[in-house]
Amino acid sequence: MDNDELQNFREAGKLASKIRQESKSLIMVGESLLDIAETIEKMIADEGARPAFPVNISINDIAAHYTPEIDSTRVLKEDEMVKVDLGMEVNGALSDTAYTIDLSGKHENLVESSEKALENAINTIKPGVRVGEVGGVIEETIKGYGFKPIANLSGHMIKSNQLHAGVEIPNVKTDDPYALQEGDIFAVEPFSTTGSGYVEDLEQVEIFSIYMPSKVRMRQSRKIIDFVVKNYGTLPFAERWIRKEFKSKLLVSAALKELLQNHFIKGYPILREVSRGLVSQAEHTLMVTKDGCEVFTR
Ligand code: CO
Repeated sequence: MDNDELQNFREAGKLASKIRQESKSLIMVGESLLDIAETIEKMIADEGARPAFPVNISINDIAAHYTPEIDSTRVLKEDEMVKVDLGMEVNGALSDTAYTIDLSGKHENLVESSEKALENAINTIKPGVRVGEVGGVIEETIKGYGFKPIANLSGHMIKSNQLHAGVEIPNVKTDDPYALQEGDIFAVEPFSTTGSGYVEDLEQVEIFSIYMPSKVRMRQSRKIIDFVVKNYGTLPFAERWIRKEFKSKLLVSAALKELLQNHFIKGYPILREVSRGLVSQAEHTLMVTKDGCEVFTR
């Protein structure tokens, strides 16, 4: 990685960190999810950056991949556990960071367990450490609080313009032999739950990305693809963003359906904890350095 690229990653991290802090004041009972998501996305645009992916606002037993529909009227309720996951793109460099707010005030331990797991993972990361060992540290920390890590969600390597670049950092101990190398960039994201420790896909999908370009039949599909390529490239996008541009609900959903069917795009279904446990999440983007790591989103 050259110095310009490194500076872009640092900038993407610093800006995401700033918006993470500023956005916390939006997470209040009675606030609309749509307003929160759009306000955060506007904060990102105001910094001259783009969202690395649609802002995720996942509540209670939903672990990830929910972003509000364009006509959502859902507001935050008392007693809800809210996870906000956001990232930015600066000249191809990406950041990814998340926090949890417990509006009930009754589950601070659950929130703390994922935060502490992230902190312990960060303190473990250095060249030569295997990703499966980092998973072990996350698992041990969360179990120490009496909760379970979500075993089928993991952190991910990040490269320029590539949010999920292959190698994963699991949230449980595994035999994965990949050893961390200086210069590797990862999003580390422990998820902790009062449930059984697994998530499953729901039918609802609000977030997509381009997957395998192929021929499309419908004119509307071609128009949408042109728009996506121009504005988001290969980064994830929200149906909400498409609906803002192409007004018709019917035409947009028919086009997305065609694009999904021929694998032009892939969907990221909403992920729910299988036993409907509460879920907390903490996440930072970092780079492995000579003797540890540099956290870009601190
Ligand atoms: Co994230």
